[in-house]
Amino acid sequence: MNPKAHQPDSLPAPGPSALAQSEALVAQLRAELDSAGGWLPFDRYMERALYAPGLGYYSGGARKFGLRGDDGSDFVTAPELSPLFATTLARPLAEALRASGTREVMEFGAGTGKLAAGLLSAFEALGAEFDSYAIVDLSGELRERQRETIEAAAPSLAARVRWLDALPERFEGVMIGNEVLDAMPVRLFSFNTGVWHERGVVSHNGVFAFEDRVVSAADDLALLSEIDTETANDAYVTETHEAARAFTRTICTMLARGAAFFIDYGFPRHEYYHAQRAQGTLMCHYRHRAHGDPFLYPGLQDITAHVEFTGIAEAGCETGADLLGFTSQARFLLNAGITEALSEIDPSDTKRFLPAANAVQKLLSEAEMGELFKVIAFSRGLDDTLQAFSSGDRSHTL
Ligand SMILES: C[S@@+](CC[C@H](N)C(=O)[O-])C[C@H]1O[C@@H](n2cnc3c(N)ncnc32)[C@H](O)[C@@H]1O
Repeated sequence: MNPKAHQPDSLPAPGPSALAQSEALVAQLRAELDSAGGWLPFDRYMERALYAPGLGYYSGGARKFGLRGDDGSDFVTAPELSPLFATTLARPLAEALRASGTREVMEFGAGTGKLAAGLLSAFEALGAEFDSYAIVDLSGELRERQRETIEAAAPSLAARVRWLDALPERFEGVMIGNEVLDAMPVRLFSFNTGVWHERGVVSHNGVFAFEDRVVSAADDLALLSEIDTETANDAYVTETHEAARAFTRTICTMLARGAAFFIDYGFPRHEYYHAQRAQGTLMCHYRHRAHGDPFLYPGLQDITAHVEFTGIAEAGCETGADLLGFTSQARFLLNAGITEALSEIDPSDTKRFLPAANAVQKLLSEAEMGELFKVIAFSRGLDDTLQAFSSGDRSHTL
């Protein structure tokens, strides 16, 4: 496929080496399509586009995280927006370490390392005791970037950071993943003429396109029965999240004592599978522009879907872990003291204060990240809830 076939005029074109990387991934995908008989389920396409070794978006060389498109980045996340995100998050994590009597921290999908660096510095300032900070990421190519960020920001603690190639069987401590669940492959389904179809990928004259197939497998129909077809109009498209649920099950099984926190955009099931969300939530990010074409520059753009939090809660609780809390990012950060953290910056130091205040506004505002982003946490062996879930807990909405 010629990736340019999918280039909307308004998006900047990648350079020659990035294009060559995308072409190589496209060739692999085409070969896989051929050997699969010409049709691949979308989750397989998404998995390759994001994680194919050396070529996928997260495993290749794309810059990914940053504040603006002109630095070659594609999107911004909360830890990149402001150090106050990590400073605030450190408080509930430290509280969970203390309350569970554990001393290990593990982060999934650590991006540029900013969250790790910020948490380490904040733990030190809070006097939180911990022995090690493990990073687990499917994207090994980010390790160097993470190491540099951590060594620059928290040199005295960098020696406690280690990178794991595989998950341990058992873990006692506190785990955190910011925007990790949304980066897991989803299956796509469309409801047409009263019948569920799975949306897959085909290649027409070398150009990738969607093709729907009627769903007949009993397991798939059982899964889709969770969706209220009374409200699903014809041409309704949505996603299911087997990979994120399986990941949550694995993490919560591994959690012998302590807590696991996940922060991400998404909704409880009744909101997710709402009749009005008829186009689903699949979204692509390229140079800070959001669009809906997953076939644009495979391997060079992010592909993501919102998280269906009821399924995540079920997956965690099936393992016997407790649901520690579920709330909006705004409520969680406010309960954890983000405004106090902001007030520690002198307002007359406008160079520091104004960007910090703007970032806090973005993290909390209903119109930006405050309401769309949620925090879900599981625990084992914790007797009480945490200050950060002490008011506004929405577990009952799951
Ligand atoms: C959207 S990025 C978020 C990065 C960072 N947490 C931040 O907030 O800036 C998603 C990250 O999750 C990682 N990821 C996806 N699936 C994962 C898994 N099963 N285990 C660990 N990391 C995973 C990806 O490799 C990627 O680095």
